[in-house]
Amino acid sequence: MNTTITKENLYKICFVCLGNICRSPTAEGIFRHLVNERSLQAYFEIDSAGTSAYHVGEPANSKSRKIASQNGISLQSRARRFELDDLSYFDQVLAMDYQNLSNIQLLDTDNKHDHKIGLLREYDPEAGEDLEVPDPYAGGIGGFEHVFEVVQRSCRNLLDELENQVDGEK
Ligand code: 4NP
Repeated sequence: MNTTITKENLYKICFVCLGNICRSPTAEGIFRHLVNERSLQAYFEIDSAGTSAYHVGEPANSKSRKIASQNGISLQSRARRFELDDLSYFDQVLAMDYQNLSNIQLLDTDNKHDHKIGLLREYDPEAGEDLEVPDPYAGGIGGFEHVFEVVQRSCRNLLDELENQVDGEK
């Protein structure tokens, strides 16, 4: 997507995982934090969702919130399920792993929105061949710390790229 991002035509981005309680709320929180740090909040709409309904209505996982908060970021999301309408609404939809990606693509029955669907780790400069943000849900705190680092690297790089599309007169 190489359209200019303006205050009238702001860039709408949604991060998607399975439960919308660990990885995608972390991505939403980190990306929002970076956007605020760069004073770009008038140019972006940022959200997250899950491909399952397992945890709808729940706040982010306590371990995700703890690590984010240690890094000065407050995760405010409530879990919701990603829906077909989200595919029309958002400019970019970034999945955390191949399973989420495939579930999103299944909603897009006539491939109308394929150009806006991808994996967050495509933006991770250290990703190598592994383009998944690993699911930390059933593991210990180390997995959540790893998710934070991977997502932070990816979001920084993603915003570096998008910033070039922001209208010059901030
Ligand atoms: P998330 O993690 O997709 O990063 O929010 C998970 C949350 C819940 C489950 C799996 C992964 N679950 O199976 O309930």
